[in-house]
Amino acid sequence: MISQTFLILGGYGNIGRLIAELLLKQTDTNLVLSGRNIEKAEMLAANFNQKYPGNRVSAQRVDAAEKLTLKNAFERVDLVIVASSSSEYMRNIAETAIEIGIDYIDCQYSIAKLQILNSLKKKIEGAGCCFITDAGFHPGLPAALIRYAAPYFDSLEKAYVGSMIKINWKNLSFSDYTVWEIIEELKKFKSCNCQHWQCKNRSKQFYFGWEFGKQTILPMFLEEIRTLPQTIPSLKETGFFIGGFNWFVDYLVMPLGLAALNLWPQKALKPVEKLLMWGLKTFSHPPYRTILLLEASGWKNEQYKAMRVEVSHPDGYALTAISTVACLLQYLDSSIRKDGLWLQAHLADPSRLLKDIQNLGATVKISEAIELAEQMAIA
Ligand SMILES: NC(=O)c1ccc[n+]([C@@H]2O[C@H](COP(=O)([O-])OP(=O)(O)OC[C@H]3O[C@@H](n4cnc5c(N)ncnc54)[C@H](OP(=O)(O)O)[C@@H]3O)[C@@H](O)[C@H]2O)c1
Repeated sequence: MISQTFLILGGYGNIGRLIAELLLKQTDTNLVLSGRNIEKAEMLAANFNQKYPGNRVSAQRVDAAEKLTLKNAFERVDLVIVASSSSEYMRNIAETAIEIGIDYIDCQYSIAKLQILNSLKKKIEGAGCCFITDAGFHPGLPAALIRYAAPYFDSLEKAYVGSMIKINWKNLSFSDYTVWEIIEELKKFKSCNCQHWQCKNRSKQFYFGWEFGKQTILPMFLEEIRTLPQTIPSLKETGFFIGGFNWFVDYLVMPLGLAALNLWPQKALKPVEKLLMWGLKTFSHPPYRTILLLEASGWKNEQYKAMRVEVSHPDGYALTAISTVACLLQYLDSSIRKDGLWLQAHLADPSRLLKDIQNLGATVKISEAIELAEQMAIA
């Protein structure tokens, strides 16, 4: 069988390079690393070719703002992995992929991106392309964890997913656009928006193990959770919750920075970007770990039962790359490849996803929880 070729947009960024390395280790795909800086792409491609046999990595300059560069790059490949901070040019990327007829996966959180992709849904199907959006760990895993738990119950009634991200920001550097994107998403932060089932729009406490203890965290909108009760009709309550960065960023930079951006959208942007990065690097301290926790409960054999699933990794960026590659392993053997627009969390087989995530280096713990069942039954 001929190996497939994947283009990674943002191939030398934090997420892109981790995805590239996992694909080189786990698959026989050929890779094209891309971004606006050809020197960076070439240097990383050369490093990978020294480390992994077969000369499988090449580099190409691509600017998502320029459709011609996208077209030239897409003509050489089977699938594009969007790991770039280029949400502004989402329409360019998606339309060019449809025009050339290649498949697509992205690992970005952006409500605007979903709106653009949904507007192109018919064209994606018509062109015979498989578009997988909201890949990664969140979005990407929360609804998959709930889908994993559902068959263990006769009737799954409640399923909450909490996330805690403690990252060593000091070791990371970002493209200017990535910081801009983080601020744009914080400005548009949307908490839970559950209309069709009972989801209380309030914070919730999760126990994140002995290192981090109990944490009260905020609800956050995820498309994969909003649409889940359509596939699991017994689900009465569900929601996704997320912890903050650190006290300085949560209680000072965010309220003051967002207020300043409201008053002076252009003038305040650079100072707020700088303050955010400084706050992340200065006030984030060990232990570092990213944890995604599912607390599910419902009826099984006429008893009220609870289940807890925990996915974690010391490096949150690695967890995003691992989850994306775990989904691509299912895509590569054609078990999930089908025409249309899909959310990773709804498309991937959740049992295999968890198994592959573990094989790729994340920790997965699954347990029945008697105490939790009692709490959730009365809550
Ligand atoms: N789903 C999840 O769980 C999750 C978790 C973390 C991050 N993310 C998302 O993943 C994306 C990448 O994050 P990161 O930390 O890897 O950022 P990063 O290290 O700053 O990398 C961004 C990459 O995008 C490239 N890029 C930026 N603008 C571009 C353009 N117009 N055309 C082509 N390439 C462009 C950059 O290269 P040049 O600037 O040189 O072009 C760089 O290679 C972000 O959108 C972030 O929000 C998702």
